[in-house]
Amino acid sequence: MEAQKKKIILDVDTGTDDAIAIVLAALEERFDLLGICTVSGNIEVKLTTENTLRVLTFCGKQEEIGVYKGSDLPLVSTLLPWTAQALGIRSEIDLRTGKRWPLPRREGTRLDKSEEHPEYLPLPPSKTREREESAVYWLIKTLLAQEENSVTFIQVGPATNLALALRADPRIKKAIKEIVIMGGGDRVTNTSPAAEFNTWADPEAMEIVLQSGRDILMVPLDATHSAYVTLSDAEKIAAIGTAPALLVAGLIRSLASSYINSHEEMRQYQAAPIHDALAVCAALHPQVLSEVVHCNCHVDISGGWAYGQTIVDKRKLLDSETKNCRFARKADRNFFLKWAMEVLSKDREKRPHN
Ligand code: BDR
Ligand code: CA
Repeated sequence: MEAQKKKIILDVDTGTDDAIAIVLAALEERFDLLGICTVSGNIEVKLTTENTLRVLTFCGKQEEIGVYKGSDLPLVSTLLPWTAQALGIRSEIDLRTGKRWPLPRREGTRLDKSEEHPEYLPLPPSKTREREESAVYWLIKTLLAQEENSVTFIQVGPATNLALALRADPRIKKAIKEIVIMGGGDRVTNTSPAAEFNTWADPEAMEIVLQSGRDILMVPLDATHSAYVTLSDAEKIAAIGTAPALLVAGLIRSLASSYINSHEEMRQYQAAPIHDALAVCAALHPQVLSEVVHCNCHVDISGGWAYGQTIVDKRKLLDSETKNCRFARKADRNFFLKWAMEVLSKDREKRPHN
């Protein structure tokens, strides 16, 4: 008898590593991918939606998997570059570092993620459109229709969509078995001096999700940076030869070159972390993660220097009954790579022209 597939929903801000996460989630036979929600994050939601559709079209999954456009702005924060403009308010932050007033502003700096996440992925324009319903509406409708504890929610962008859905109709919690989050960082940060990008981009939303009371598995930067993928791994993936494998290999090469230019450790390895794809792997194979601590974990929403910082209660000062997540500090890069290659190789067997 065929083993039951794991029902998942993916929430993305595509994004190069999001694109790799989508390819692997869509091709992994053990997943039943109910739909993909998009959100503003790496770039604006109209672009993350188009990029998501491009990836699905390229993998031949555009009819099968619905894409639902989500929030264009974070709940409260105005840190994302286009937010202040959309709201007609003056941005008081250094958009490159995320430092807020009253810290000194450096003229001409901005949040420049263009090397890591271009506006458009280098793929043909999508032939399909996103579905009619908005992401939040679709999430509520879909989750209310699912059995209790049956869906794994994989969130690899800012948490805006899920936070809105949880606030609008908390009954959706019942269907959510687990929330796997690529986000946060304890010893590693990557956007402001204190914060990882997904928590920084919508801190209040991430905190709402962390307080949801559901089972949460955090895949933070500490774990993703230890599961880096190298340029020579990209060659092995390219050798699989299918269109999705060549796409993944190309994206790894471009991510690696952006990291090699900006990150000392990655320069040494000629490599990059593929954050979002590791979260997809962990949703199926939690054993890819190690040094996983059950702990109290929250996001700073006080709006100062630490806005968006992940606070892990390392000294166990908070109640043990309120532990709200499993936080991974490390991951096994060989396991991760092996899984990704297996998914892409299995897909090759099913493609008529390979
Ligand atoms: C996260 O931020 C984004 O830039 C990536 O897509 C990933 O989800 C890493 O901090
Ligand atoms: Ca992402």
